[in-house]
Amino acid sequence: MRTLISAFMLLFVALPVKAETGHDLWLRKHSANPVKVVCSGNSATLSIAMNELQQGWQGETGASIVLAVKPDKSIKGDGYKLTASGVQANTELGILYGVYELLRRQQTGPPVKEEVSNPSYERRVLNHWDNLDGSVERGYAGHSIFWRSGEDSLAVTEKDKALWLEYARANASIGINGTVLNNVNASPKILSGEYLMRAKAIAEALRPYGIRSYLSVKFSSPSLLGGLKTSDPLDPQAIQWWETKAKEIYRLIPDFGGFLVKANSEGQPGPQDYGRTHAQGANMLADVLKPYGGIVMWRAFVYSSEDKDRARQAYAEFMPLDGQFRDNVIIQVKNGPVDFQPREPFSPLFGGMKKTSVMPELQITQEYLGHSFQLVFLAPMWEETLQSDTYQEGPGSTVARSTNGSLFPQKYSAIAGVANIGIDANWCGHHFAQANWYAFGRLAWNSGLTSDRIADEWIRLTFSPNSKERPDALKTRDWQEKFLIPVKEMMLQSREAAVNYMMPLGLHHIFAGTHHYGPGPWYAPKGTRPDWTPPYYHQADTSGIGFDRTRSGSNAVSQYHEPLASQFNDLKTCPEIYLLWFHHLPWTYKMKSGRTLWDELCYHYEKGVVQVRQFQKVWDRAEPYVDAQRFSEVQSRLRRHYRDAQIWKDACLLYFQQFSRLPIPYDVERPVNDLEDLMKIDLKWLHHN
Ligand code: GCU
Repeated sequence: MRTLISAFMLLFVALPVKAETGHDLWLRKHSANPVKVVCSGNSATLSIAMNELQQGWQGETGASIVLAVKPDKSIKGDGYKLTASGVQANTELGILYGVYELLRRQQTGPPVKEEVSNPSYERRVLNHWDNLDGSVERGYAGHSIFWRSGEDSLAVTEKDKALWLEYARANASIGINGTVLNNVNASPKILSGEYLMRAKAIAEALRPYGIRSYLSVKFSSPSLLGGLKTSDPLDPQAIQWWETKAKEIYRLIPDFGGFLVKANSEGQPGPQDYGRTHAQGANMLADVLKPYGGIVMWRAFVYSSEDKDRARQAYAEFMPLDGQFRDNVIIQVKNGPVDFQPREPFSPLFGGMKKTSVMPELQITQEYLGHSFQLVFLAPMWEETLQSDTYQEGPGSTVARSTNGSLFPQKYSAIAGVANIGIDANWCGHHFAQANWYAFGRLAWNSGLTSDRIADEWIRLTFSPNSKERPDALKTRDWQEKFLIPVKEMMLQSREAAVNYMMPLGLHHIFAGTHHYGPGPWYAPKGTRPDWTPPYYHQADTSGIGFDRTRSGSNAVSQYHEPLASQFNDLKTCPEIYLLWFHHLPWTYKMKSGRTLWDELCYHYEKGVVQVRQFQKVWDRAEPYVDAQRFSEVQSRLRRHYRDAQIWKDACLLYFQQFSRLPIPYDVERPVNDLEDLMKIDLKWLHHN
């Protein structure tokens, strides 16, 4: 019998799996069973919901499903209730989200029982850093899906519309309900009539799926676009210019969400140019949008103050303004105090501000985590941030709770993710980068989901064999053991692996060049501002390594509530994952493992490289279960991933060794590159794939 089964397994394993480009994301087509759908209303959104059920029903053949828009106090906002007979919600969008959940459960396993699901955040927004010429800042998946250059750049084609519909559907299926169409480093042109017309067309495609459009605006638009003498937020003409513009926008896009603003940051104009505060600038725009129900997402990514420690600056600038912002302003704060590094402690602005709505900004695009060359699943990083305790209102005041309205009443709650989407066939460059888009949506809907659950769902939806291609009984067990479990484990380890081979033990911002891909702990070109150079962050010298942010250093620790401030300040209690973030320590400092700090660093770099090497094997073993195209594309990226991880390790260890003057432990693999060579190469462009 056993031989028979093995022979049978071999047979189906050898069957070629149909090539896939990855374009279908987690929404791959499956043959559906017939289902009868009864719906209480009639609208574009409800038709989509009905259609999704008919096209994707995997449940009992001939089942009857009721979609009911009917008020229920336990359901909040666009939440939904799954019932034995179907989906109930207060809004049509709630029905759509419930339908996607129902279909997801049919494909991923968890049984459908009567339960209510309400969103953790009311606004779940993607931020596209897309420029109007079609390039994407920190984009690694080709050009923008919204904008392009050339003569026909503003013409809205059928192909554009079809792509925007697919994009809207993918977002709605994971609960995303907003998108900012252009880069935070905004061109004033976005507010010109012709670009607004294109924004209108995009908004129309997205609307039935419940995705609201927002725009990033340049604070000096009244002068740059309107020709006014000043863009001072208190100047009546400047205010009037914004009022007229808002009216024009809402005429074109009645459900327009609002503005995202990067002001007085990295050379962008802002209210401080006119002697006004961030609050005065944000409030002016908030007042302009208020009559239409619009909001202002005002970014706290600023670091222009006199303070010597960049990690302290956003807090120093925004905390004194707490309580001064209108209720339709939300301060958008990056998860860490510096800048989307592989690991940072959470920004102390979470749990800091008490009278101002604050929203987390996560970066889905892998600017600092390997672009689209490396397989890094980011959910564990976001889970780490969202579940960090701020102690704002005592224990249990997690970052999630301090931003979603559970600790303080907030008129609006929101979360943003910087998109990793482009026109590449698979949308995200790396097939596994799709998991990060997916994870953002799922966490924005339910910030309590675990990375494990999200990875599990995503793998099942993205890779599970089509039931027609595989015999059923064997399919499930074999596929789970040989594909799902190892691939999930690889994903769950991948972020820690990246921290290990890039910046372990609290190191941060040690990239070469401005593209933030390869290692460059030495990088400090003449004339560059110090806080854009790695030596500023690692502070390595013969006496030791790390940034002293303790009470006797920059005192950034004091921006956290107790007991965190003391915990970070004290070497005995500071978590080792943040050690060099908060402390400058001698190379021979004794770690909890008993090793010296230098040895521990070496072991971490080594471990990261070994982990990636292992990922290659996991993937190669998975070959029989994946179509040839996606298999070979991921395989070749993993080769590069490994080579680049090796370079990270060699570069960092050889560079820091100049200061530590200590041998690399003998059970750690020796570097295979020379520091001199590594300092000359540009890793981003070194390989072709
Ligand atoms: C990072 C990133 C920039 C971006 C900026 C921001 O510094 O490298 O490209 O503009 O963040 O978030 O505004």
